[in-house]
Amino acid sequence: MTFLSLDSIAVPDIHPQAPLVTRKARLPDIEAIHELIGYWAARGQMLVRSRSLLAETIRDFHLVLAEPHGGKPGGLAGVCGLHLLAADLAEVRGLAIHPHMQGRGLGKQLVAACEREARDLGLPALFAWTYQQAFFERCGFHRIDKANLHPRVWSECQRCAFFENCNEIAMLRELG
Ligand SMILES: CC(C)(COP(=O)(O)OP(=O)(O)OC[C@H]1O[C@@H](n2cnc3c(N)ncnc32)[C@H](O)[C@@H]1OP(=O)(O)O)[C@@H](O)C(=O)NCCC(=O)NCCS
Repeated sequence: MTFLSLDSIAVPDIHPQAPLVTRKARLPDIEAIHELIGYWAARGQMLVRSRSLLAETIRDFHLVLAEPHGGKPGGLAGVCGLHLLAADLAEVRGLAIHPHMQGRGLGKQLVAACEREARDLGLPALFAWTYQQAFFERCGFHRIDKANLHPRVWSECQRCAFFENCNEIAMLRELG
């Protein structure tokens, strides 16, 4: 049996001081999104997302891209999706920041972009599953009891491989 070392699951190098641009995702971005989410999924921080699921939901995603800088190529610095679950709820999902770009406000900026889109759509609330409770609290979310989840969240959960032993935290942000 062959074991993959974590070091072999890497993301392309980008310069931490590279100029950044933000935009919505396009289909050619699927590989880079898959790679960055796969990097953190391999480290137990989030759930893996298949290329086919990313293709189906590509219009959900906001990106921050690093431009080529200091001899290093450009690449994906961060990604976050806003996925509509029902007329009264959307989920912030697939949030991942490049390991060289953490702690610089990009995660908060991407969640804020999803929040703006949710407000424009007229949504009253945002939902997230996460292991990063403190980060989401900084983004205005609060923890909720799993017993009180929106029924549409449960129907998504039943398709998840970790349904029987989920230890993610459920968080909500009312948009008032
Ligand atoms: C968690 C993650 C999205 C945070 O993004 P980031 O760009 O590093 O965070 P930011 O710089 O935007 O931080 C925003 C705020 O949250 C705080 N914060 C960030 N990560 C935190 C953590 N792990 N624990 C506590 N606070 C945290 C910051 O201190 C900052 O606080 P401030 O508002 O007082 O300045 C990012 O580190 C990441 O991709 N982690 C791995 C994948 C993951 O866990 N994804 C989430 C799946 S739901």
